Amino acid sequence: MTKRAVVRGVGHYLPERIVENAEFEAMIDTSDEWIRTRSGIERRHFAAEGQTTSDMATRAARAALADAGLVPDDIDAIILATSTADLTFPSAATMVQANLGMSGGFAFDLQAVCAGFVFALSNANAMILSGQANRVLVIGAETFSRIIDWNDRSTCVLFGDGAGALILEAQDGQGSNADRGILATDLNSDGQYKDALYVDGGVSTQTTGHLRMQGKEVFRHAVEKLAQTAHRALDKAGLSPADVDWMVPHQANLRIIRSTAQKMGLPLSKVILTVQDHGNTSAASIPLALSVGKERGQIKQGDLLATEAIGGGLAWGSVILRW
Ligand code: UT7
Repeated sequence: MTKRAVVRGVGHYLPERIVENAEFEAMIDTSDEWIRTRSGIERRHFAAEGQTTSDMATRAARAALADAGLVPDDIDAIILATSTADLTFPSAATMVQANLGMSGGFAFDLQAVCAGFVFALSNANAMILSGQANRVLVIGAETFSRIIDWNDRSTCVLFGDGAGALILEAQDGQGSNADRGILATDLNSDGQYKDALYVDGGVSTQTTGHLRMQGKEVFRHAVEKLAQTAHRALDKAGLSPADVDWMVPHQANLRIIRSTAQKMGLPLSKVILTVQDHGNTSAASIPLALSVGKERGQIKQGDLLATEAIGGGLAWGSVILRW
């Protein structure tokens, strides 16, 4: 018997306010056509005034608990992947813990920007395999609308808010890659690319700052590194792209997603796509895609999923899991 971290439930939350590309035409020098053709984005959701990351994360967590048929006290640990926590401290994860009324366990935030959810999955997997926790609630939640520079047309049209959550549970497997659960992970970062994507403020500068991105530079790295990391993770699992039922990529740009799928020899019909409706929701994009993909009837138990993401750091990685 081999212990595996297996998906027990999934859920998501999207704020009510939907902003179509056309709304930006009245604000800045842009067009629906430019946004669609360059990024694939058609609309995004923005959090209501006063609505925070922990609020959205809690709603996604409740949906995942309901899907799993579990109550909050069944959870041993919460990892919340976010770069837009409510406060400098305590962690937004502890706020979710309190909102859920959990009487035990532990909770912490993890920050790896758009790659945050794959880093969180990998950490949750390690915690389960080491016996530190049996059930981990892994959340990705972001309010990037709060760090957008509304005068910067090259970034403000790209991002959205939302949250997704997954419950991983220790289960026995056979030790083969036919097992359900996380089969392999591959994490990377390279701090020399800090200037490609960052927020020009933070606690020690006593400012909140705004997101700054050299879009072309990030695009170039994404196209090169995402297929590489997914291939490496598949290799570690003793699998190949031909075994993949669904690629579940970070939803930043349809052109990046297309190019990565092409490099992996996967048709677009095997890719979960939500970028058109959500925009780039950073660490929330993969759990949102997982939840929506299941809701649409695309992702089914036993399917092999290849997730991959890249973002500020640069940080990037891939997790291979059988649903
Ligand atoms: O989630 C973390 C990872 N992030 C990403 O993966 C994002 C990676 N980068 C991208 O997705 C793309 O680089 C963008 C969508 C950000 C931009 O696409 P691009 O094809 O690289 O366009 P560009 O930045 O080279 O800009 C092309 C032109 C420029 O005009 P000139 O210099 O050619 O005259 C821009 O000024 O498009 C102009 N432009 C716009 N035009 C209309 C930039 N933003 C806009 C806009 N509306 N919103």
